[in-house]
Amino acid sequence: MSDATAGGIPTLGDLEAELGSLEGRRVLVRTDFNVPLDGDRITDDLRIRASLPTLEWLTERGANVVAASHLGRPKGKLDPRYSMDPVRTRLAELAPAVELHENLRFDPGEEANDERFVAELVDGIDAYVNDAFGASHRAHASIVGPPRFVPSAMGRLLEREVTILLRIRNNPARPFVAVLGGAKVSDKLGVIEALLDTVDALAIGGAMCFTFLAAQGRPIGDSLFEPDQVDTCGNLLAKATKPIHLPSDIVGLDACGEVAMFGVRLPEGAKGLDIGPGTAAEFGDVVMDARTVFWNGPMGVFEDDRFAAGTRTVAQAVADTKAFTVVGGGDSAAALAKFGLDDQVDHVSTGGGASLELLELGDLPGLQALREGVRRDG
Ligand code: 3PG
Ligand code: MG
Repeated sequence: MSDATAGGIPTLGDLEAELGSLEGRRVLVRTDFNVPLDGDRITDDLRIRASLPTLEWLTERGANVVAASHLGRPKGKLDPRYSMDPVRTRLAELAPAVELHENLRFDPGEEANDERFVAELVDGIDAYVNDAFGASHRAHASIVGPPRFVPSAMGRLLEREVTILLRIRNNPARPFVAVLGGAKVSDKLGVIEALLDTVDALAIGGAMCFTFLAAQGRPIGDSLFEPDQVDTCGNLLAKATKPIHLPSDIVGLDACGEVAMFGVRLPEGAKGLDIGPGTAAEFGDVVMDARTVFWNGPMGVFEDDRFAAGTRTVAQAVADTKAFTVVGGGDSAAALAKFGLDDQVDHVSTGGGASLELLELGDLPGLQALREGVRRDG
């Protein structure tokens, strides 16, 4: 696959030029309103606020806008736990003129990318805008279908996300450092391999560090790890030509359930839940010395104050460094918000999986669909 850019994908301005005017046109906007919920309370409305520049641009031009999103994973069935009502209430406060479609994933045709569902979505629609960066790695009906049938464009948010992420992927100011955390190494192996081609150094914390420590033959006690990924992690470490920083100390619970600090050899029954202070300081230094930083995934169980220090130190370094900083993924964004640092990074991506896949592959199904929509016309 050749490296894509946001170039070649029609913008909102191109769409307006193609239609002459947007006045009275019915525009379907695919947004990613998959927000975190506590019961029916939205705990972080970043994804709704991030869509406003596009929604307002369209309504200011007289378009009749209908937004459509998935929420959670209701698996093709109407499930009241995933009703869009909390989102609808918040959206009515922020963008009262915008209509909201029911949860797209209540219909099995969404995930199956079914022709019938695409036809229903574009029925009565004059134009389509994809602003759902966080869902653009899914080849679902609402993401890849409409550009085949109606004039289509990327929204402001999608354009900004793609431009920034492809810039750090293809042309970063160096040194370029990636800090990765979170639980599952198997989700991130592809991106780790791809990043090793572009970054100058990688730092790995979070539960996934234990699979790497196990690959180095270290005892990891009862820490979470993925036994079937140990060999792969060992191979990655063996063939890496860039420094990979792994923890040199760990904070967790000892066999009696007391908070304790360990070196990289965890005793039997102990469980690692955060990187230790020495490691956090080292990762912080790596971030301070960089000119581009990408951070995805917390360093420990930061929701629990006993295991938040590692994530807090990394977050503070990401906020303080002079580097160009990009934070991807719901958990790292939530950590930044918890520490009050979310306004001190250059870009907080609204996509977790999508930002990793774009860094890994340089393209996404949702972007391809918008590019091919143009080819159909031209
Ligand atoms: C996300 O939250 O990662 C996006 O909204 C995509 O959701 P999904 O992982 O359920 O496809
Ligand atoms: Mg996801």
